[in-house]
Parts: sequence; C-alpha cells; structure tokens
Amino acid sequence: MKYQIPKGLFDIIANAKEGFKEIDKWQYLESVIKKLAKDYNFEEIRVPIFEKTELFLRGVGASSDIAAKELYTFLDKAKRSMSLRPEGTASVMRAFIENNLAQEKKVHKLYYMGPMFRYDRPQKGRYRQHHQFGIEVIGEKSCEIDVEIIDMLMSLFTRLGLKDLKLLINSIGDFETRACYKKALIDFLKPNFEDLSEDSQVRFNKNPMRILDSKDERDKKILKNAPSILDFLSPAAKDRFESLLNFLDKLNIKYEVDNKLVRGLDYYDDTVFEVVTQKLGAQNSLGGGGRYNSLLKSLGGPDLPGIGFACGLERILQTMIDNDVYFPKKEGPFVYIIPIGKDAKEFSLILAKDLRHHKIAVDMDFNAKKIQKSLGLANKLRAKNALIIADHEMQKKIASFKNLERREQKEIKFEDLKNFIKNKFYKV
Ligand code: HAM
Repeated sequence: MKYQIPKGLFDIIANAKEGFKEIDKWQYLESVIKKLAKDYNFEEIRVPIFEKTELFLRGVGASSDIAAKELYTFLDKAKRSMSLRPEGTASVMRAFIENNLAQEKKVHKLYYMGPMFRYDRPQKGRYRQHHQFGIEVIGEKSCEIDVEIIDMLMSLFTRLGLKDLKLLINSIGDFETRACYKKALIDFLKPNFEDLSEDSQVRFNKNPMRILDSKDERDKKILKNAPSILDFLSPAAKDRFESLLNFLDKLNIKYEVDNKLVRGLDYYDDTVFEVVTQKLGAQNSLGGGGRYNSLLKSLGGPDLPGIGFACGLERILQTMIDNDVYFPKKEGPFVYIIPIGKDAKEFSLILAKDLRHHKIAVDMDFNAKKIQKSLGLANKLRAKNALIIADHEMQKKIASFKNLERREQKEIKFEDLKNFIKNKFYKV
C-alpha cells in the first residue's frame, strides 16, 4: 500500500518544489511575525488543536460556512463531538474565560500561530489545513486600538516587503443596525431572487448579508445597486467609523471603504477589514478581522469587547514568492568535518562533540571517501568552513581548515584545532 497525504494538506520541507512549502521560508516568516508581536507588545497564547464542537458552532456562528460546511468533526471514544479548530478566535475566547484572565488586567493583547482546518474544495491558496497568525485584543473599545491593530497588520506586510496590497474597510454597525439593514437587503433582493446564484439563494434565508461578498458575476451584477450598510449606521457607529478613517489618514495608511465587506464569520460588529492582493486569484484575502463586542459574553464570559485579525501564512508566502521579495539565505553549519578513514572519524566525532558544546554548529560526513565529493556536499549544505582530516594526516596530527566562501585553506595542528575554530567562530 502506498501512503499518500490527504487532499488539501502538504508537507513543509527543505528544498520543496513549490516555494511556499519550503521550511526556511516558514521559519523566516515566523521570525518576522514573532518580532512584530513583540514590538506591538502582544503575548503568545497556545490553545488546543481541537475543541468541543459546540464551541465553534456558538463562536463562529452556526450559519457561517465555516461551521455549517467546513468543520472537521469527529466523535471521540466517549462519543463526544469534537472538531479541529477552523480558526483561533473562539478558542482564545474560551481560554480567556476558563483561565479567568479578566481578573488579571484590563486590556489583553494576545497572539497565536498555528494550523487551522477547514473542509473545503482545495485550490491555489485554499487548503484543508492552513496556518494562521492571529491576534486578539480583549477589553478595549476605543477606536484607537482598531487603528493600532490595522497598522500592525499592514506593518507585517511592509516588513515582509509586500507592496500593492489593498486594505478594505467597512463598518457593519451593531446588532440593531444589521437587523434593519438585513430587512432592507432582503426587500431589495427579493424581486431578483430567481437570478441569484444557487449559493446566494440558500444564503437568502439563512444569512443574507453573506450574499454581499459573493464572487459570482450574476450576484455581483444584482448587488451593484444594493443598499449600503453605511447608510444604516447609528449616529454613534457612524462617528466611530469616521474617526477610524481619520486616524488611518493620520497614520498614512491607505484604505478603500468597501460597503459590501461583511466577512464570513458571525461574530463581528462595527469595524471589519481585509487585506487583499490582486495576484492570488479567487483566494485573494491575505488577512482580515474585525471587532466583536458581544462574542465573549455570548460564550458565557464577561461583557468585554474584542477586536482581532488573522492572516494566512500560505497565502502570504505565495504572495511573497509571486512578488519576488527577499528571503534570507539559509545558514549552514559553521564547520563541516570531512574525516577520511576510521581513526580520523573517531577523532572527528570527539572534536564535533566539543565544538557543539561551545554552541558551534557542526556537521560531519560519516561516509567521506573522496574529498572533492564531500566538499560538494559541504557547499550544498551552505557550510561556512570545511575541516578535512585525512587518514595520513592523523600520523602528523594535522588537519586542513578550508574557508569555503573565500576558498582559503590552512593547515592546523590538532592541539590548536579547537581554539582556532573557536576564535574564528566568535570573531564572526
Ligand atoms: P478568516 O478570514 O476566516 O478569519 O481567516 C483569516 C485568513 O486565513 C484569511 O484571510 C486567509 O488568508 C487565511 N485562510 C482562511 N481559510 C484558508 C484556507 N482554507 N486555506 C488557506 N488560507 C486560509 C478568521 O479566521 C478570524 N478568526 C480572524 C479574526 C481574528 N477575526 C477576529 N479575530
């Protein structure tokens, strides 16, 4: 039997054929994200990969596609329904409530990174296991914090060298606003019901606002003249949105107001936003988020507001590759030891251990026979130096140290070897 990875999943490995599956690129992206989180003073939170299914049905909203169609659900051995997490927000809220974090301080700034699972038809930029970097700010309602996290998301893209992205922003107001708007939208769509796409016809009864972000051309044509939610905002929500846009202007963050942006999860109110690229085709959203003022309470927690975003690491990496942006080169070992012969091998093993204890990265060719071939391997591994210990040199107690970048070679006595390498390493 030949084992194959399930559809919509992929391995992340060294030298992967498709660039975005390459481990070095992931490690680089993750390091940029961790530094960003530190600079904005966010603490990491790690929540489990699966939770009780009810959490996601309540948290994400039973009528959203993610909960209704895309959950990976299974029964555990005690016949309890569990689901792989489709996103991070619901789990973070659960953890916040369960660990009583509200007691500790007023405002919480949390971030997470890891795999999410959605059962959807795989295509470029859409996977059944994808990875997100997400943040959640709990306990702060001011519109300054909305601006700060939008700035954080845009900074991530700037730090990665991504340009030409579009920030779309909208306000979907509070519950009453949406109730009035939904009614107006239904009244508008009713005469056009037969012309809507099949998906939108289903959404018409369940979640009509989701029709607004349909990608189907038939729907888009109808929606051109649809009422705008911005005309339904309460005076307070309107003021808030205007202040938000003002702040964005002050921070020189470019945006486009998109009154059809509603996002696919049910927990949002007021601010919603998304960053899109022109290059990924249908799956063009690199990240998105919004405010959720009643989610925590609806999950049985304190009445605290929240806002957050998440971005997809696969899509970010793919966009970086498509835009030819800089990825740092992978660093190889400081020394690659090439021992020829049994005695040389034994000597090298001890030397390698000593050097590694001094935190110097060392690798060794246990199968070394021909020096040229082993030097080729050292280059492939991007080793900085090679140390050649040939059998005949064992008698003379001499090794050859070769700087592979400058192509310089030096003979070193065994007794000086450790200090010589240590000095070279710590000088670098
Ligand atoms: P989301 O828009 O569903 O939001 O997902 C966030 C990002 O994850 C998307 O913009 C996209 O880049 C990536 N993504 C989603 N699904 C897939 C997939 N199947 N394959 C590849 N990438 C994907 C959320 O998940 C919210 N929890 C964000 C949030 C946090 N809102 C408030 N706090």
